[in-house]
This record gives sequence, structure tokens and C-alpha cells, in this order.
Amino acid sequence: MKLAVLISGGGSNLQAIIDACNASDYPAEIVLVFSNQTQAGGLERARRAGIRAEAIPHKGYPGGREAYDDAVSTLIAESGADLVVLAGYLRLVSESFTARWKDKLINIHPSLLPSFKGLHVHQAALDAGVKFAGCTVHYVVPEVDSGPIIAQAVVPVLPGDDAGKLAQRILRQEHRIYPQVIRWIAEGRVSVDARGIVTVADAPQADFAEINPALEPG
Ligand code: GRF
Repeated sequence: MKLAVLISGGGSNLQAIIDACNASDYPAEIVLVFSNQTQAGGLERARRAGIRAEAIPHKGYPGGREAYDDAVSTLIAESGADLVVLAGYLRLVSESFTARWKDKLINIHPSLLPSFKGLHVHQAALDAGVKFAGCTVHYVVPEVDSGPIIAQAVVPVLPGDDAGKLAQRILRQEHRIYPQVIRWIAEGRVSVDARGIVTVADAPQADFAEINPALEPG
């Protein structure tokens, strides 16, 4: 399966996917890394790995969000990607973009959805006093952080946590579950029913153990 990975920042999730793709038995490869920020650190990670990296600044792009997203879609389509992976892409995508890539567009979000959608989620989780936090990989639909949930990993909230410490602990699990989900999709094992419930066919128990590290601090 060919992947286009969209980023805005440092790209640690991108790096986890690059590393996974380097394994000879991994059923996916990255054909394009795209960013709306020319300075995104992830672009450099891609170039170092010999992966095509492109950026189009969204600021001042003529024609607004739809026109911008059309340009992004064209780049992705030309790259031959069959799965679009949002990995810290800090930009709302238009409805036409989600329609164009329906069932081929996934995102990772650093909370246990449907709790804590949007931004500043680590602080929001701490403020709510939850005892467990985590991350979610989901299909993207027009409503933000709302599409069918494919996988989640749970981490405990520990005494003395601040948003930064919690974010780091969650990020370590993000790096485990995102490559795992991409593998499941590439192997054709992920399906969504009419209610938006995702099933992973024939997932070995080991796969689930891998993404649910038994609530260890990580
Ligand atoms: C991650 O926490 C991801 O869940 C969120 O943005 C952050 C991106 O981090 N969507 P990185 O650029 O992959 O390091």
C-alpha cells in the first residue's frame, strides 16, 4: 500500500511510520510527505529517508481552503498514494477533501475519543481529573475528531503529571499504534459497518497485546 503522510510539525509519528516501512515484511511504503508548513521538521526526516517531501504554505493561498485542499489532493493523487495518513497535520480539512479520500483518510489524536476532541487535549484531560488517557486512530469524517475508531491505546495519568509529561507518555503509544493500524489496513483486514463500528479481521492476539500495553506507565 502506498502512503501519503501529511504533517505540520516535528513528525515523530511520521518517523515511527518511516521506521516501520523499513522492515522488509511491512506491507506499506511512503510515497509522499506533505506539509502546509515549509519549516516542518518532518520534511527533513522524510528527505533524510529518501522520501519525496513537498510543502505548500496555506497562508495566503488564493481561493481559500477548498482550493488549497484541491491542490493537496492533486499532489496526493499524482503520487499514487492509496491511503492518506494525517500525522500532526494541524489544519482542518474541507468537506470535499474528506469526500475525495473517503475511507482512505486516517488521523491520530492524542486522547481517548470521543473524549477531548480538538486542541490542548492533554491539559483538558488533566483538568477533568481522568485517571486514564491515551490516543486514538480513526477514519476522518467532516466533523473534527469524530470518525470511526480503529484503535486506541491507554496510558495512566500519574501523580505529578503536567500536560508535557502526559503528552510524552501518550506519544510513545502513538508511535506503536499508528504503524500497527496502517499494517492492518494494508493487509485489507479493517472494515467499517453501517453504524461506523470498525472490525479488524483475523487480528492475532499479539497485535492487540502490542497496542494495549496492559496499562503500564510506558
Ligand atoms: C501528536 O500528538 C498527534 O496525536 C497529534 O499531533 C501530534 C503530532 O506529533 N495529532 P508529531 O509531529 O508526530 O511528533
